[in-house]
Amino acid sequence: MMRRAKISIIGAGNVGATTAHWCAAAELGDIVLVDIPATEDMPRGKALDLMQSSPVMGFDANILGTTSYHDTQGSDVVVITAGIPRKPGMSRDDLLATNAKIMSSVCEEIKKSSPEAIVIVVSNPLDAMVQRALQVTGFPAERVVGQAGILDTARYRTFLALELGVSIEDVSALLMGGHGDTMVPIPSCTSVGGIPILQLIQPERLEEIVDRTRKGGAEIVSLLKTGSAYYAPSAATAQMVEAIVRDKKRLIPCAAYCDQEYGVGGYYVGVPVVLGSAGVERIVELELTDAEKSAFENSVQAVKELVATMATLV
Ligand code: NAI
Ligand code: 2OP
Repeated sequence: MMRRAKISIIGAGNVGATTAHWCAAAELGDIVLVDIPATEDMPRGKALDLMQSSPVMGFDANILGTTSYHDTQGSDVVVITAGIPRKPGMSRDDLLATNAKIMSSVCEEIKKSSPEAIVIVVSNPLDAMVQRALQVTGFPAERVVGQAGILDTARYRTFLALELGVSIEDVSALLMGGHGDTMVPIPSCTSVGGIPILQLIQPERLEEIVDRTRKGGAEIVSLLKTGSAYYAPSAATAQMVEAIVRDKKRLIPCAAYCDQEYGVGGYYVGVPVVLGSAGVERIVELELTDAEKSAFENSVQAVKELVATMATLV
């Protein structure tokens, strides 16, 4: 008999609760939704409400809302969405200082309650937060991974499908680098129904679509006004959970710890990885063109600066 996976989601806000929703609907395991005591019964309310959707939707999953890490003990996967999201007018540094403190306190708890877990970090600024999670948990790097690339690539794929009037199913693409303005499209790894993208679209138009993708998060913030995106971010996170609990060995872009890989030198950056039951089982090293290489290095530099700023803040 196979045991159900135990998935703890820290932060029961928009991204956390919606991740719970996708994971439950896909029967990825039992779910524990955790928030801070100041939220009082909110995580319990969301968990109960979600669980009561199961008879209608037809999924089996226990969903528990809590403010105690005791309930998360022995989790197989821990997803961290705790922190504040960006609102219009907020700087990245505002998020960095607040969320670095939150990340440290959450990781101290996870280290004690789920020492064998694979940790998926979602909180922003992503590339710095996942580095902090590695430092504080002390887990091996293959068990600490960040979500950004699946979301950014999904936005890019959506815009390409809309542009070309084709099914999203036929659009395959890859973006690398940090989760920010410097993310790097890899046109040689972008195709539609197997046809290389540059045979279907003018380079200038492709650049406009890449630019919209880079600003994809800000576009949603400016529309929502009270917070940031959560449907697509949580769907992306659930895909990572699925890859781990079902040992799917998906080849997907994630923020992974790169040392020798791509010559990064010990930072988290978005790269194609094989994600399975052991976490990041492999980092795939692509041959990049000179232009892609320099854009990637530029992105890595931005991540290094973010991590250096974080070190001065906390
Ligand atoms: P939200 O405000 O809806 O939820 C955040 C939750 O975290 C709140 O319920 C809050 O009480 C909780 N929280 C705060 N401190 C905590 C602690 N110490 N322990 C446990 N829970 C704590 O925000 P939302 O929209 O869910 O976003 C969460 C984070 O994810 C933000 O930092 C946001 O920028 C980031 N994000 C990252 C994405 C990515 O692609 N990597 C995409 C979308 C959001
Ligand atoms: C996004 O890209 C805020 O990181 C989040 O939507």
